[in-house]
Amino acid sequence: MGSSKEEIVVADAGPIQEVEAAREAFEREFGRFAHFIEQGSDAAVSLKEVAAEQRALGELRTKHLGKKGAIAAAKKLIGKVAPDERASFGQLVQQTEARISESVAGVEEALKAQIERARVVRESIDVTIPGRRPRPGHLHPITLMRQRIEDIFVSLGYAVEDDREIETDFYNFDALNIPAGHPARDPQDTFYTTEGFALRSQTSTVQIHAMQRRGAPVRMIAPGRVFRRDTPDPTHNPMFFQVEGLCVDRGITMAHLKGTLAEFVHRLFGPETKTRFRPSYFPFTEPSAEVDYSCFNCGGTGCRICKGSGWIELGGSGMVHPNVLRAANVDTSEFTGFAFGLGIDRTCARIYQLDDIRLLFENDVRFLEQFR
Ligand code: DAH
Repeated sequence: MGSSKEEIVVADAGPIQEVEAAREAFEREFGRFAHFIEQGSDAAVSLKEVAAEQRALGELRTKHLGKKGAIAAAKKLIGKVAPDERASFGQLVQQTEARISESVAGVEEALKAQIERARVVRESIDVTIPGRRPRPGHLHPITLMRQRIEDIFVSLGYAVEDDREIETDFYNFDALNIPAGHPARDPQDTFYTTEGFALRSQTSTVQIHAMQRRGAPVRMIAPGRVFRRDTPDPTHNPMFFQVEGLCVDRGITMAHLKGTLAEFVHRLFGPETKTRFRPSYFPFTEPSAEVDYSCFNCGGTGCRICKGSGWIELGGSGMVHPNVLRAANVDTSEFTGFAFGLGIDRTCARIYQLDDIRLLFENDVRFLEQFR
């Protein structure tokens, strides 16, 4: 301790001086705490700072009132002082000790009060501050579109099927009558994962799963993600959404297909909407047709949205190929069916007149917020 040399010198000067020196030494060090008592608990200090002061005060108390302190040493001298001076010396020691304890206790109180005050400030709530408005999210435009499509088909008696996005060659190709060597099997067009598996390139895979699960008759739609190795551009994205439709029953004909899709576009775009079927080819249907509907914007006269043709493409369709029914163990002598596949995001982009389909996948809130 830095002041021990001074204490020894003073100690030599006699017991009374020793006690006085102890008191002065305390006063000197106590000086920096005095303002806590004077200012009461108004001094603005953080809880952390107050805690540090409390620790420092504890150390000061130990140093001056502890077993190894000057007061303890003075007490030991009481017995050695001449008998007639003993009483007054004893009193001096006691008074000094009491004064030191009182000073320390005073600061202790002040610090406690400050902690209390800081806590109150920290925990107080200003009830006049306006509340934070919750920012509720909303559904993505593709989800909204999917729900509209689902509602229409559910009301027509279709079940909604959900299925896996990673498929085996069997479901993605073989069962859909897509033979080896077909361009759709080319790694340039399909994302293969591990050997024998691929990210489904069409929701038509669910036709097979649904027939295996439910048998015939069956009426279902299957909305979901599909994946193709396309370079993204305004009309292509390597991941997009389709909705598959399948209806298998006794005596199903092309007329049912046409009637169903005509009803669908009536409900989606309005009863004046016309449909058009163009002969086409898909491995899993025979015969096959591309379906168009009259433009919801110009009604068929030609505008920017339908690129002047008056028609907008809806998707592919056809009568389910017997090979596909057989792959799913459906008796082709008893059942026939139709199927179709529509692009959800493509339809969504048309309806909202989006110039670039990639906007739907960029998750830019400024764009998405317009679809509340
Ligand atoms: N799977 C086809 C595609 O991705 C769309 C399609 C066409 C689905 C005809 C069908 C269908 O069910 O009958 O291009």
